[in-house]
Amino acid sequence: MSNSSDRVLYDLKDGVARLTIHRPEKLNALDRETVQALGRHLERAGGDAAVGVVIVTGAGDKAFVAGADIGELAAQTPVEGASYARAGQEVFTRLERLGKPSIAAINGYALGGGLELALACTLRVAAEGARLGLPETGLAIIPGYGGTQRLGRLVGRGKALEMILTGEPIDATEAHRIGLVNRVVPAHDLLSSAESLARTLLGRGPVALRCAMQAILDGLDTPLQQGLGLEATLFGLTCATEDMREGTRAFLDKRKPVYKGR
Ligand code: COA
Repeated sequence: MSNSSDRVLYDLKDGVARLTIHRPEKLNALDRETVQALGRHLERAGGDAAVGVVIVTGAGDKAFVAGADIGELAAQTPVEGASYARAGQEVFTRLERLGKPSIAAINGYALGGGLELALACTLRVAAEGARLGLPETGLAIIPGYGGTQRLGRLVGRGKALEMILTGEPIDATEAHRIGLVNRVVPAHDLLSSAESLARTLLGRGPVALRCAMQAILDGLDTPLQQGLGLEATLFGLTCATEDMREGTRAFLDKRKPVYKGR
């Protein structure tokens, strides 16, 4: 059985940090130690200037993450339940607000907390055959790691209500059709596709990516006029960066820009 230190594997290569949820004997179910380990690795990735993009995936070929650990759920009191939900939400929000794009590479079941983890990522690539769902109501609980909030914002109220109330998982093709995942690829191409998407993002201005993510995420929760104000402010901020000078100069010089993230 895994211990806390290896529940999430961390691998950094060429600007891409890969975080692998590693509890394959339990289909990578998220117990508290795994969530804490994820939080620590995210802190590390967020603070490391060498990391431009984060990929999150699951160990093995069967599951991304099959949910929160049901054994732990079964034993918790209401007070513990609320506090664990908050702790998980904080870690997932750290991922969403890392200031660097993240890509969920969904290699099989993404259920409950697994789908909620994928929802906190910036983008999602799914393997053909992956199954995604929020089955919690079947256990007489509701999603507690952001699912009731992020799913509707991504796919709309109707689909979110359907998926959460029925608890029935959908396949990768349907997830793509409703905008829940950005791409569906053959299972053996999953990581290379996620890495190729990561390389595309690494070629863009990092401050611009951060500002674009902030404008989109904050803008969705504000009235249009306020969102447009935020956009104008962040646009102005990107105009003050060295990277903006480099990007525009490189275009005029007909060469590839080299960005420094400042
Ligand atoms: N929490 C704890 N353990 C889990 C788990 C979870 N969310 N999901 C799977 N596991 C464990 C199983 O108990 C089993 O452990 P065991 O070998 O010690 O008995 C192991 O992982 C393999 O799972 P198993 O159910 O045997 O695989 P399967 O291929 O028959 O079914 C699933 C796969 C994903 C359909 C099934 O495991 C499942 O329904 N999991 C729960 C999904 C869920 O409700 N998640 C939301 C939780 S809030």
